[in-house]
Amino acid sequence: MTYEVDYLVIGSGVAGLSFALRAAEHGRVLIATKKCPDDTATNWAQGGIAAVLGDDDSFEDHVADTLKVGDGLCRREIVEMTVREGPAHVRALAEMGVAFARSEDGKLDLGREGGHTRRRVAHYKDVTGREIQRALLAAVAAHDRIELWDQHIAVDLLSMAKYGGEAACFGAYVLDTASGEVKTVVARATVLATGGAGKVYIYTSNPDVATGDGIAMAYRIGAQVANLEFMQFHPTVLYHPHAKSFLISEALRGEGGVLRLGNGATFMENYHPQRSLAPRDVVARAIDNELKKSGADSVYLDMTHLDGDFVRARFPTIAARCAALGIDVTQSPIPVVPAAHYMCGGVVTDAAGHTTVRNLYAIGETACTGLHGACRLASNSLLEGVVFAARAADAVAAAELLRPAQVAAWSSGDATDSNDAIVVALNWDEIRRFMWSYLGIVRSDKRVERARRRIELLRQEINEYYWDFKVNADIIELRNLALVAHLIIDSARRRKESRGLHYTLDYPDKRAEPSDTTLHLTHGPPP
Ligand code: SIN
Repeated sequence: MTYEVDYLVIGSGVAGLSFALRAAEHGRVLIATKKCPDDTATNWAQGGIAAVLGDDDSFEDHVADTLKVGDGLCRREIVEMTVREGPAHVRALAEMGVAFARSEDGKLDLGREGGHTRRRVAHYKDVTGREIQRALLAAVAAHDRIELWDQHIAVDLLSMAKYGGEAACFGAYVLDTASGEVKTVVARATVLATGGAGKVYIYTSNPDVATGDGIAMAYRIGAQVANLEFMQFHPTVLYHPHAKSFLISEALRGEGGVLRLGNGATFMENYHPQRSLAPRDVVARAIDNELKKSGADSVYLDMTHLDGDFVRARFPTIAARCAALGIDVTQSPIPVVPAAHYMCGGVVTDAAGHTTVRNLYAIGETACTGLHGACRLASNSLLEGVVFAARAADAVAAAELLRPAQVAAWSSGDATDSNDAIVVALNWDEIRRFMWSYLGIVRSDKRVERARRRIELLRQEINEYYWDFKVNADIIELRNLALVAHLIIDSARRRKESRGLHYTLDYPDKRAEPSDTTLHLTHGPPP
């Protein structure tokens, strides 16, 4: 069946929902999201949203902190624009009902995180993302020009290139995972808001949905992608056999938490003057190094010297989750390890979310706007989500529908129902394990080359499987995950230096001239 809307949004995190609310002022919006509407990385964001909101802060300081952490690859004009527009968006979220924490005088209570020289993180306890997601979803549900399809995963984007025209996008094939029907959605503008790709790694702070779908789909229709070697590893994810993916927010260190080894000794003073509050890439590498040196399973984040009532009130969710696993955070240090957290690269866009393919937009973690450069400053991501969602929502008003007269319905050809699902499970696991070992926090030419050989073989197998059997959510995600892994490997091979989040033993120094790693499909059949 074919559906026609003005704007198709794929993904329902902060960027997708913010876009939908603003674009609905001038068009009909359909949001397709692959699981439940709140199965998003936004919903898991603990720290908050960074913006210049404090009396002692300035745009110049926020810009300087972002550029410093971004290690030479931020686009200054994008950073300045985002920082200047940020405070108005935080206030708009508060007006929409987001219950940011406030001090007794009614001012926003601002947290601090690694790499920030000021307190500038607006938050709601330790579940800021959940609170923003709640408010945005409530507003979307009340809007009569926005329709939301949950349990709908995009299979591929529709491109005029397949009909002999220029590379222009006019919607997507979308699988209804409940019925198995692949629907054709035709849209004037298609907006990728699919989040990141943390699931490419076996250890990640991300939800299961983070399989890089937007990056993979955009690449397949010829959009430029960039800087995919810059996967950010969060230094502190809870280390416990029953604690899958549970983040221990950087805000704990912002409130005085200290990193220690198993014997109680501190170590961050050996790595950076900001010690436990150093930028994330530095802290993650330091922990990785200490774990490799000692053979220990984890390091520890110590909050026991702080006022227990304050810790429980400021971080109720983290305290409760740790307590359920037998850790009283006011009495014992929390065992932590690094894990894949945020994709700093993505689909290349300009300041209004336009990709290099006409009528295709990318916002939020899916995009590479130039804000984050080689390493993202903590809590700049929710900020990027709202700023670029608004700009893209204004830009799409001018998009003109470019579509063929007849759009081919999805065809399964001779595909049958899969009788070999074990292939999906094994390949999924293998990719995530070797990506952790070979494309992790510390890389080398040899490791990257091993990964390259493996991903080529696996992608051949996955592609055969993809065309032989009817599509389902698992194979769609695996195909995307494998392509994004391939693109990360290819990007890492090209960067012959250590910069920001990309650290390689073979090229420990930075090159004099910083440059982006850009890739796009130039020839051959779609991967
Ligand atoms: C955190 O709370 O540590 C995560 C914040 C972020 O990734 O920006």
